[in-house]
Amino acid sequence: MKLARIHFLLLVIALVIAVVSAGSAQTFGVKKRTPRPDEYGNVVMNNHAARVDSNPVVFTHWLHRAKYTCRLCHVDLGFAMTANETGVSEQDNRNGLYCGSCHNGTIAFPPEELTEGGKTIKHCDRCHSQGKDVEFEHDFYDFVRGFARSRFGNRVDWMKAEDEEMIVLADYLEGISVERDDLMIEEDRQLQPKVAGMPKIIFSHEKHSVWNGCELCHPQIFGVRERAQVYDMQDIFEGRFCGACHGDVAFPTTDCRLCHTEDVR
Ligand code: HEC
Ligand code: HEC
Ligand code: HEC
Ligand code: HEC
Ligand code: HEC
Ligand code: HEC
Repeated sequence: MKLARIHFLLLVIALVIAVVSAGSAQTFGVKKRTPRPDEYGNVVMNNHAARVDSNPVVFTHWLHRAKYTCRLCHVDLGFAMTANETGVSEQDNRNGLYCGSCHNGTIAFPPEELTEGGKTIKHCDRCHSQGKDVEFEHDFYDFVRGFARSRFGNRVDWMKAEDEEMIVLADYLEGISVERDDLMIEEDRQLQPKVAGMPKIIFSHEKHSVWNGCELCHPQIFGVRERAQVYDMQDIFEGRFCGACHGDVAFPTTDCRLCHTEDVR
């Protein structure tokens, strides 16, 4: 046990060095600032900012993932899992696509609304908030108060928050999603790292399927055949396979021991 721990620590040090150097070519030799908990998972959408005088949009995962599954947005609504790849336009939203699937005045605030007194209230700035001093309705620190904590990312243990019903996730949008039967959950997988002494990973289908259904991972990220894809830790650090989510939105890869659990915890 002791030996395994030392082994693990050495590996961690060696790997962190390898990763910091290989993962970020332009910032070689520099320790980047770790994102603040309230910034982790925020996406700046700015395909149009240069062309028109509207500020870039800041999309907050922490608020939305506390209400909806990843699957709902990234499968049913068709959002890409790479910043700016979807190419959302204001007209799309007004046609009920993308943000407009919800920000339509029924589920969440619309771009603009008419008050009873006939006044128009514009909510543009709540989305187009980059570089502006906007007063939001939801504050990160108030919102996550009382949630179980974790060490990195949003510093929220989202699994526990969901288990303890601090958050309840919708996986269905009327008129958009298709009704589905409950999922048949696959067995957990043991993934064996190709380095001796590196603790094994137990991959839980059950826990992942709560957030991701099946379609978010199969076939695009992991294929469907057993070991259809061969990948290593470097691929993960670079944002592929497990890294498609763990790195930007789900807990980051800095938390080695949340994945490499076997023999260590
Ligand atoms: C309410 C909708 C919504 C939910 C729920 C949601 N996302 Fe996203 N996600 C988005 C949008 C919008 C973007 C930005 C897409 C773009 O810019 O084209 C995005 C981008 C991403 C990116 C790319 C980030 C980057 O910086 O490149 C990842 C990774 C991601 N999401 C993972 C997840 C995971 C994992 C979950 C569940 C824990 C999740 N998302 C839940 C809407 C959502
Ligand atoms: C629910 C969030 C949301 C609200 C509210 C919102 N927008 Fe947007 N808007 C977006 C997103 C997302 C984009 C795409 C951003 C990008 O990639 O640059 C966008 C793009 C735009 C663009 C870029 C050009 C184009 O036509 O797509 C303009 C102009 C714009 N919005 C104006 C407005 C105005 C004016 C309001 C208020 C009346 C408003 N938006 C309210 C989310 C929103
Ligand atoms: C699946 C439904 C859904 C989608 C898709 C969605 N939102 Fe939201 N959003 C919500 C809900 C629900 C809230 C919280 C209720 C409210 O504030 O009206 C919210 C709140 C927000 C807030 C918080 C504003 C504040 O004052 O705290 C912002 C900003 C926001 N959304 C931006 C976006 C942008 C930008 C997109 C698209 C890129 C988007 N949302 C897509 C459902 C959604
Ligand atoms: C977060 C990503 C993720 C989600 C969500 C997910 N899987 Fe998997 N799945 C994996 C990984 C990783 C493996 C192991 C792949 C490997 O062996 O390389 C796997 C393996 C499988 C295999 C095994 C192929 C084989 O013969 O070993 C099947 C079948 C499968 N998943 C079905 C499902 C079903 C059904 C769901 C929904 C209930 C689901 N998966 C959800 C990531 C995921
Ligand atoms: C499609 C997105 C996605 C992919 C791909 C993915 N995960 Fe996750 N994973 C999540 C989300 C979302 C959570 C919930 C916790 C969070 O968001 O921090 C999670 C949680 C976990 C947990 C915590 C479960 C627990 O027992 O508490 C582990 C461990 C984990 N992932 C390992 C992996 C491994 C290993 C892979 C690759 C084989 C992988 N994940 C691929 C989205 C993903
Ligand atoms: C999101 C889950 C996850 C996290 C977090 C994670 N790993 Fe891994 N790691 C994996 C998986 C899955 C494999 C196995 C890949 C395979 O061979 O199938 C792996 C393999 C490895 C290997 C074996 C060699 C290789 O390149 O495949 C080493 C060493 C390793 N990880 C080190 C680390 C270190 C150090 C950290 C923390 C800085 C870390 N890992 C964080 C999932 C994770």
